[in-house]
Amino acid sequence: MIMEEKCSVFRCTVVIIVFLLVPLIHCSVVNYDRKAIVINGRRRLLISGSIHYPRSAPEMWEDLIIKAKEGGLDVIETYVFWNVHEPSQGNYNFEGRNDLVRFVKTIQKAGLYAHLRIGPYVCAEWNFGGFPVWLKYVPGISFRTDNEPFKVAMKEFTEKIVNLMKMNELFASQGGPIILTQIENEYGSQGKALGPVGYQYANWAANMALRTGTGVPWVMCKQEDAPDPVINTCNGFYCDAFIPNRPYKPTIWTENWTGWFSVFGGARYERRVEDVAFAVANFIQKGGSFVNYYMYHGGTNFGRTAGGPFITTSYDFDAPLDEYGLIRQPKYGHLKELHRALKLCEGALVSSDPTVTSLGPSQQAHTYAWASGGCAAILSNYDTDSSATVTFNNVKHKLPPWSISILPDCRTVVFNTAQVGAQTSEMGMLPADAEMSPWEFYSEDVNSVGVSKSFTAYGLLDQINVTRDTSDYLWYTTTVDIPSSESFLQNGELPTLLVQSEGHALMVFVNGQLSGSASGTREYKKFVFSGKVKLRAGKNRIALLSVAVGLPNIGTHFEEWDTGILGAVAIYGLDNGKWDLSHGRWTYQIGLAGEAMELYSPPYVNSVRWRRVASTNQKHNALTWYKSYFDEPEGDEPLGLNMGSMGKGQVWINGQSIGRYWTTKATGNCTTNNGGYTGRYKPLRNQVGCGYPTQQFYHVPRSWLRPRGNLLVVFEEHRGDPSRIAMVKRSVRSVCADVSEFQPNVRNLQIESSGNKEKFRKAKLRLECGPRQYISSIKFASFGTPLGTCGKFSHGPCHAPSSYTILEKECVGKASCSVTVGNWIFGDPCSDMLKRLKVEAICSTTQ
Ligand code: GAL
Repeated sequence: MIMEEKCSVFRCTVVIIVFLLVPLIHCSVVNYDRKAIVINGRRRLLISGSIHYPRSAPEMWEDLIIKAKEGGLDVIETYVFWNVHEPSQGNYNFEGRNDLVRFVKTIQKAGLYAHLRIGPYVCAEWNFGGFPVWLKYVPGISFRTDNEPFKVAMKEFTEKIVNLMKMNELFASQGGPIILTQIENEYGSQGKALGPVGYQYANWAANMALRTGTGVPWVMCKQEDAPDPVINTCNGFYCDAFIPNRPYKPTIWTENWTGWFSVFGGARYERRVEDVAFAVANFIQKGGSFVNYYMYHGGTNFGRTAGGPFITTSYDFDAPLDEYGLIRQPKYGHLKELHRALKLCEGALVSSDPTVTSLGPSQQAHTYAWASGGCAAILSNYDTDSSATVTFNNVKHKLPPWSISILPDCRTVVFNTAQVGAQTSEMGMLPADAEMSPWEFYSEDVNSVGVSKSFTAYGLLDQINVTRDTSDYLWYTTTVDIPSSESFLQNGELPTLLVQSEGHALMVFVNGQLSGSASGTREYKKFVFSGKVKLRAGKNRIALLSVAVGLPNIGTHFEEWDTGILGAVAIYGLDNGKWDLSHGRWTYQIGLAGEAMELYSPPYVNSVRWRRVASTNQKHNALTWYKSYFDEPEGDEPLGLNMGSMGKGQVWINGQSIGRYWTTKATGNCTTNNGGYTGRYKPLRNQVGCGYPTQQFYHVPRSWLRPRGNLLVVFEEHRGDPSRIAMVKRSVRSVCADVSEFQPNVRNLQIESSGNKEKFRKAKLRLECGPRQYISSIKFASFGTPLGTCGKFSHGPCHAPSSYTILEKECVGKASCSVTVGNWIFGDPCSDMLKRLKVEAICSTTQ
């Protein structure tokens, strides 16, 4: 018999299985003290990771969350994205990728906690920072300040989300997984800049949030003056210096940036896991008890969700799970080991304050006491250049530069942030056997722009005011009458057209012909197009296509920023000098003809006559739609589209938008990246991919495909070559591992750690290919003193000749293998030397 009754305080369901007499009380009491978040009376050291639900397909969620759990996470964090949930005022969407309830329930099913960052301003490199564009047009509105219309809308959405969670019993106070909630996002400095109204708004936001009664604590990140009981938290690459605004609040790091986002035309950024681990260990040793990786899985900005301007469709973020949901090694594995080591110390860390001892000029020990006696210690070396040998508790420990060691029993080093035991996986985009049916094309008719579905006005209008962001594209067209007496018609010295734009990209057509294009950058959105134009005597049509590339997501009152062609637009070089067209009569057309017809969606694709692309390498005019069909590639590797042969545009599969593509090359400075990781991380010093397209591959979730006849539609603004568009599958190409023969013997480690005593690895090298892959060959193996990094290993002065045969015997043909690293396996190639084993193995789908 099962009896149900309600908890008086939190409406929590108490299920009592009477015949077993075991009460299963699902509700949790979540509060905090100065040391930690306290769940059901127990202080917790919590490791969290950001996974944003609309940045992957729902079919991927469970796998991502389970991988996160296996990576040692306790909590999944997500923002709530207002503009996907309320695309027009009062009309809500919680379907598909927007199914927030399903996402939180998936977290719950995996046995993890959730942190819901409702915002509703989220920043997040997301279109308009998460605000719906209609919000800008609410009369009298001003975003993120003490403004009634804004506060009314923000309160309504916040309550909508809180109520949705409550209805589904998803707060921990109801038995659900949500243990934390966030209001606003990094408002502190913005509020300060606004003065009293900023302060009033922040207070209002906190109190409004508290009144929703979630039964779990609220946080405000980067908000020094967060009012009680809201916890102010830290975001950044490091948070070791962060102190909450009241001594009774715990030290929480809501965004530990695992990498950085990219913009089209910019480099990509990597952040070495050694430094991420260092930052976490440093934060924890100084009293931090909650760390969230931003991002743990970055994912994809599908459709037109990328913020901007110019944020790429990929939001990979160099996260432990890559854009495609695959494990990124060694980032994932090394952090997993860090989490395991920290959890071994959890009881000591959350129950005592550290004793800090100096171990040298740049070396320290933080010692925490176990309640049952003994201690746990964290030893740090802040020196960025030299390793240090320190004596702690009468034992000598070697600390590599910029590294931290964890000793759960104050004697045994179970983890050092700079010593990476996890394997490295080299990922590749391999051809997927998906033949495209012959490409067909349909060109936008530039001559008929402005003929229908358009309006005219005098002067130049802001693009977003006109489009309301229903399309990236806005046509501005006008006509100019050139008298036959103009000298340039005789002397051939063509006049110059000048167009000043507030952003983001522009294409100029004169009498139906492309005259040129230009675009801004994230730093300098404004740009000027200037080019010679072929005008003729009589009427000339000037058609300017202004293209938005994501609305701003950050900046004071970004809702007021202009986009599009706001002038001046002028022709220079005429007999009368300059002709300013800015205040003349302009015809406006929102979007492309193909968009209006929904050419990208299966039911409407055939509303026009498509023509065969005649031959390979045939380049068509600018503004051309292409279509082809393909069957789903075999296997279950994640898929992508290689768009390297195209220029700029958008792409859809079976009517679902893969996102914007742009193959413009990265112009960053990659020469400053020397691969080192010591010292404070700076994205600009860690750029990769300069000289190559910032983004060439575009994620296609497998769940969007059917076995046969998938419709692929591409809208190309420039003049790309569709015949070379190809499906690719993301797979592990090779795996490397590098293990020293010496490993600490931790078998006798006596510690109190939430009841679990763990054995740490012996000196073993482990290799594992991707799902359904096998090790097909050993590219490199050397036990001795090998040199180099993965992909570039070479033999050192000492090398055991048995290395290859042993690795081949143990590994080839297997999905994974492990080999003990020691003289008794390989023979001793050089006694009295500390040896290591470095291996690179090739992975493939055939054994
Ligand atoms: C933070 C912000 C996040 C995200 C991140 C950068 O400042 O809170 O939403 O934008 O920066 O990737």
